[in-house]
Amino acid sequence: MSVFQQRHDQLPQQTHDEFAREEFCGSLRKMFTTELWPANREIYTKERLPSFVSEKGRAPQTFPEVRDWMEDSFYFRSTNAVGRAAQELLWDTVGESVERQLDTLIEKSKPRKGDLGTIRVNPDLKMPRYIEAVDIHVMPGNFQTDLSSDDVFAGALYDRGVYVFAFGGLGKTNADLGLATALFTQEKFPNLKPKRILDMGCGPGFTTLPWKDIYPDAEVYGIDIGAPQVRYGHGRAEALGKAIHYSQQDAAHTDFPDGYFDIVSSLLVTHEMPGPHIKAIYKECNRLLAPGGITLHDGGLAYPSDPFDILMNSWFGMHANEPFSNAYKTMDHDQAMIDAGFAKDKIFHGQREAVYLKGQLPPVHFVGAIKA
Ligand SMILES: C[S@@+](CC[C@H](N)C(=O)[O-])C[C@H]1O[C@@H](n2cnc3c(N)ncnc32)[C@H](O)[C@@H]1O
Repeated sequence: MSVFQQRHDQLPQQTHDEFAREEFCGSLRKMFTTELWPANREIYTKERLPSFVSEKGRAPQTFPEVRDWMEDSFYFRSTNAVGRAAQELLWDTVGESVERQLDTLIEKSKPRKGDLGTIRVNPDLKMPRYIEAVDIHVMPGNFQTDLSSDDVFAGALYDRGVYVFAFGGLGKTNADLGLATALFTQEKFPNLKPKRILDMGCGPGFTTLPWKDIYPDAEVYGIDIGAPQVRYGHGRAEALGKAIHYSQQDAAHTDFPDGYFDIVSSLLVTHEMPGPHIKAIYKECNRLLAPGGITLHDGGLAYPSDPFDILMNSWFGMHANEPFSNAYKTMDHDQAMIDAGFAKDKIFHGQREAVYLKGQLPPVHFVGAIKA
């Protein structure tokens, strides 16, 4: 893991021992992701597939068939256990470090006179059931739990946690995918001069700040269902010198006026929610866009047809509390966009390589639409 997450004043700091423990978590995750889990392919081809064929006289045809057959492999079960343990260890380790300095982080995040951006939270916001029922990524308390009235725990946990989780694989500020999204938009729509941009499900702002870098004259807004995300995000944006307007809102029902934005985007958000909520968000995007504006979301990747490839693709869905991710991958996003009010001939798909980590990260795939 690269030790060089870009420092900013809002970021949790590590003692020597915390740092060493986090390095271990990152290395364990890396070993699981790049070596242990992919080696299941060899177990399948050399052992499990031949035994299935010899017993049934045919190859497995469905994902559950492959999964159940693989469950008899000690190696498969062991790698699942290591992956799950690494996932839990990561949040426990980073969480302890964040807890130790939580009061300081809360103080730093508070809005001040002269701030570049703004922050609004809504204590009355109704949480959708899927948010309260599942700790996504096995992250204790999920993205939205408030430990106190000014809490930033979940935002700070996510900032440092994602860096360790991805062993630095999203760049020094975890922003590489967000930057790829903003650049994709600029390259595909060179005549678009956005006045206002909205990042839905912004988390701590990894996907929000790059919009300001690419479109410095635009007003940039970030919304998240979790108050600790936007509170922390505000402190982080101020520490990094970016003017961002954060608010706590459900992306499916925001309080912005009709036609307020020229770009409405989300990244790494919709795969974590059930289909009806994704559809409601696409509808809200249509309402929020000015004519000629665009919406785009990660997605649109062709789902593998081979049942073993589906299994390889489904680790997070099976073991790291992403229960909606498989349904999201097979959902008809084009139809959902049409149902949301976008014209069929205004829907687009595309992809963009990461910027700093080009070649090391898979390209981001987008599904989007232009408002007529
Ligand atoms: C995996 S994080 C992605 C954060 C950020 N976009 C990124 O890529 O770094 C998903 C975020 O979506 C937020 N979220 C989930 N459902 C939401 C909703 N209905 N409205 C707004 N935000 C939501 C979560 O709170 C979380 O911060």
